[in-house]
Amino acid sequence: MTSTRAGPNPDHMDTVTLAQRPDLSDAVYRIPYPPDSPRFMQGNLASLLVRGRRVAQRWPHLVVALLDGDRPVARGIMVGYRADRDARPALPDGGWDQVAVWAAEDAMDGVEPDTACALEIAVHPDHQGRGLSGAVLAAMRSAAAGSRVLLVPLRPPDKAAEPEVPLDVYAARTRADGLPADRWLRTHVRAGGRVEGIARCSSTVQAPLERWREWTGLPFDRDGAVVVPGALAPVFVSTSHDVAVYVEANVWVSHPVPVG
Ligand SMILES: CC(C)(COP(=O)(O)OP(=O)(O)OC[C@H]1O[C@@H](n2cnc3c(N)ncnc32)[C@H](O)[C@@H]1OP(=O)(O)O)[C@@H](O)C(=O)NCCC(=O)NCCS
Repeated sequence: MTSTRAGPNPDHMDTVTLAQRPDLSDAVYRIPYPPDSPRFMQGNLASLLVRGRRVAQRWPHLVVALLDGDRPVARGIMVGYRADRDARPALPDGGWDQVAVWAAEDAMDGVEPDTACALEIAVHPDHQGRGLSGAVLAAMRSAAAGSRVLLVPLRPPDKAAEPEVPLDVYAARTRADGLPADRWLRTHVRAGGRVEGIARCSSTVQAPLERWREWTGLPFDRDGAVVVPGALAPVFVSTSHDVAVYVEANVWVSHPVPVG
């Protein structure tokens, strides 16, 4: 780890779940995303099923926080679902969105989950670059103990610099030491994660062009692939149909978890 920023050593910070500390729920969800995070992801419909408070109520044992004193400075959010229900594929193309739907379905139907899946890891912007993400991952694996596995439909934010490159090409790039070139993928692999494949349609956003203009400030006045800041892939525009569609691929990563 190449951390140079000041702050408590991540190895010595407390980690809790919201099952242990429900009083921290608001503070955990207040940890902000960086200000340059893409606004258009608000248009992802599946995410409505797994909004913060809903996950905190249904799966509090799967929401972890890293504490600086008593203040949450990083969170890891997971949901649970049943892997072998209705011939579900092990690593669905639908990635993040698919898991959000499965988790919600199982919760509504009272089906006991056996698989944990990470939906989000966020480190407070003031604490990024200090190696906290590895500590969050370790806490998530512990919290997922007893599940078959912890899956991650991993969104590598740095890929936004190369939206035209297919994700499988990007994810296959390695450094001289054999670890992934992408830092977020590398963090997961170094923590014991295994790259399993690509979820081609992991997060989708479809909306009329006016919404896209509000989200991005871009004109959306021509057909075809448009590059949007923060997007990992181009957005496809049809001016005659007055609609644009974003299909984000993610990388499937699996992490072993302790036996429950
Ligand atoms: C992605 C994120 C969780 C990483 O957490 P972090 O605690 O800042 O990262 P770490 O300090 O543990 O560093 C992880 C790796 O990234 C590198 N890194 C950290 N900040 C960096 C930066 N600004 N630019 C380039 N590399 C950076 C570190 O050097 C390390 O790589 P290494 O293997 O070479 O040591 C954090 O940036 C974040 O919360 N981003 C917003 C939410 C998000 O995008 N989450 C991921 C998708 S859910």
